[in-house]
Amino acid sequence: MSNKVRKAGFQVLKKHKKRLADTSMRELFAHDDDRFSAYSASFGDMLLDYSKNRIDSQSMAALFDLARETDVEGRRDRMWAGEPINITEHRSVLHMALRYGGDEAVMVEGADVMPAVRDVLARIKGFSNDVRDGAIRGALGDQFTDVVNIGIGGSDLGPAMVTLALAPYTRANLRAHYVSNVDGAHMHDTLKGLDPARTLFIIASKTFTTDETMTNAHTARKWLADALGEQAVNDHFAAVSTNIEGCQAFGIREDRIFGFWDWVGGRYSVWSAIGLPVAIAVGYDNFEAFLRGAYEMDQHFLTAPLEENLPVIMGLLGVWYRNAWGFATYAVLPYDQRLSRFPAYLQQQDMESNGKSVTLGGKTTPWETGPVIWGEPGTNGQHAFYQLIHQGTSVIPCDFLVAANPHEELPPHHAKLVANCFAQSEALMLGKSEEEVISELKGTGLSKAEIKALTPHKVFPGNRPSNTILYSRLDPATLGKLVALYEHKVFVQGTIWNVNSYDQWGVELGKQLAKALLPKVEGAASAESHDSSTRGLLDHFHALKG
Ligand code: F6P
Repeated sequence: MSNKVRKAGFQVLKKHKKRLADTSMRELFAHDDDRFSAYSASFGDMLLDYSKNRIDSQSMAALFDLARETDVEGRRDRMWAGEPINITEHRSVLHMALRYGGDEAVMVEGADVMPAVRDVLARIKGFSNDVRDGAIRGALGDQFTDVVNIGIGGSDLGPAMVTLALAPYTRANLRAHYVSNVDGAHMHDTLKGLDPARTLFIIASKTFTTDETMTNAHTARKWLADALGEQAVNDHFAAVSTNIEGCQAFGIREDRIFGFWDWVGGRYSVWSAIGLPVAIAVGYDNFEAFLRGAYEMDQHFLTAPLEENLPVIMGLLGVWYRNAWGFATYAVLPYDQRLSRFPAYLQQQDMESNGKSVTLGGKTTPWETGPVIWGEPGTNGQHAFYQLIHQGTSVIPCDFLVAANPHEELPPHHAKLVANCFAQSEALMLGKSEEEVISELKGTGLSKAEIKALTPHKVFPGNRPSNTILYSRLDPATLGKLVALYEHKVFVQGTIWNVNSYDQWGVELGKQLAKALLPKVEGAASAESHDSSTRGLLDHFHALKG
């Protein structure tokens, strides 16, 4: 599908934007009692309410047209058929195979990948059960109480986010820790309270070359060997990687190496053996339920008509705000404390995928692509940055996420949490008019002049868009559905923007320069070749170091 089609599609969207620019959502709701049913969709117990968006039937129709014109369905099917849609790395994109629950073959380059996928899952099951039951123990015979996952990016954010989200399914005597940052403080503070005899390390790295991870892995290995002797490394380390030789070279024994494949992108890898620490922390059955939830969402994405397809609807609304309205950021606001790492996880999933400015054809994209994704759990965010969302000069579309049922019986907490969540989307949509502010201030004892002065500060413009995703409970299957929902949203948007959502060349330059700078930071080489700022920083750094 050509860029011409896209440009024309975005022009159509802009016309609809112009038509709707002076219409408030208040009016839209006032004139249509049925707006909620018209603009909500569900999958199982998961409801997507997208009625509080600046849309009407014509603009939605234009968005679905754009999805059809850009062949979202065709590309989706080609992805699932194993075509190498990651064209710069010549790779298939098949994270859906990792959670596939059907009987069909899933083909990559003429071979069915499912036997290998099932084999690794069986090994994850065996290993995680054995660690949990104490059949696999440390070198001195102690049962493991702490599992430290060493990885970064997709080899960290996914399992760390999922472990936290599924905290109710974890055991107090088996803790999962995640070390990612090359900052020694991260490793130091994690190891501080741990007993080497009871600590299992998992080195998680798709490439097994990532500098942060390898640095942390060697530090952990030294910590362990210093305490228990070099021979103990055998019993206290496992690895997850596509680079089996790299794992062997590090000294990981063969039956503790869990493989995955180059058709799994790092940020889409939590469903693979990268999920091993999750399986250990929550038990294999719960890990499997997490995969099953994602599989169900995949089936929905693959088969539901576009107009009822949750990831498609969410992807299109994102395109609407990015390309027709020019909104540059997007907030994800879980009213679920255990989803506190979900926005950070989505930052990688979305921004590393669609933070691109070159089309698949190698031309500069003539349109905006991925927005800045950010967020924090409610209600904390309400007391921090919501001020800007309500009254700032930028419009920030938001996703609110909330469960109907908490894991804890602690009334009145959950009712208050839900009330706050629904109140925020209502407030963003309705706002508060000048008349409403004045009538509220009358009778407060303020003078007319004081009311006049105060009123503009208390007006809320409203008309600020949001989606609400409401689900029954944050259980493993629901979490799987949620994560897959956002993965597919990213696919839809990447397809419409005509970018490769599955490479990440933009992270390379910094890595290269850091490598070149290291000897200069260590004082082993001259910084002459660098710009004056970098030289100045190095000089000052060395002066401070004395
Ligand atoms: O940030 C770049 C990146 O390549 C991510 O895509 C990836 O998830 C992360 O680094 C870690 O890579 P690896 O799993 O190979 O260590």
